Amino acid sequence: MIKPDAVANGHAGKIIDHIITAGFQIKAMKYIHLTEEQAGAFYEVHKERPFYADLVSFMISGPIFAAILEKDNAVADFRTIIGATDPQKADAGTIRNLYAKSIDANAVHGSDSDENAAIEGSFFFTAAEIF
Ligand code: CMP
Repeated sequence: MIKPDAVANGHAGKIIDHIITAGFQIKAMKYIHLTEEQAGAFYEVHKERPFYADLVSFMISGPIFAAILEKDNAVADFRTIIGATDPQKADAGTIRNLYAKSIDANAVHGSDSDENAAIEGSFFFTAAEIF
């Protein structure tokens, strides 16, 4: 996902370009304003964490881009190009280093495993929407 902060700040196009330039193919993409129920369900795994309520309200503060990306070693390589969750700790030149301001408003989300990528992809897209 490209999160609401990056969309509102006009960074979505540059982030998509960064992702494509890094060798990822876009298999599906959607521009969507999540409901509270959808954002809560997407981040259900974090339900018991202290930041869950703030995370959900941030994720419904504006529209996002959701995408399915394809590449060899996609999960690990995507995490490399986005940088650490906390932008203050993200390596220079990573998407969060370039475009994020805080751990909440951290510009992008990437799946942390192939299994979660499949679950998160099917959260947003039907089979007919994936190329
Ligand atoms: P994301 O990769 O979307 O996964 C969960 C999100 O929770 C994370 O990025 C952050 O934006 C947000 N978050 C807020 N506080 C924390 C924290 N202490 N640890 C991890 N994630 C956090």
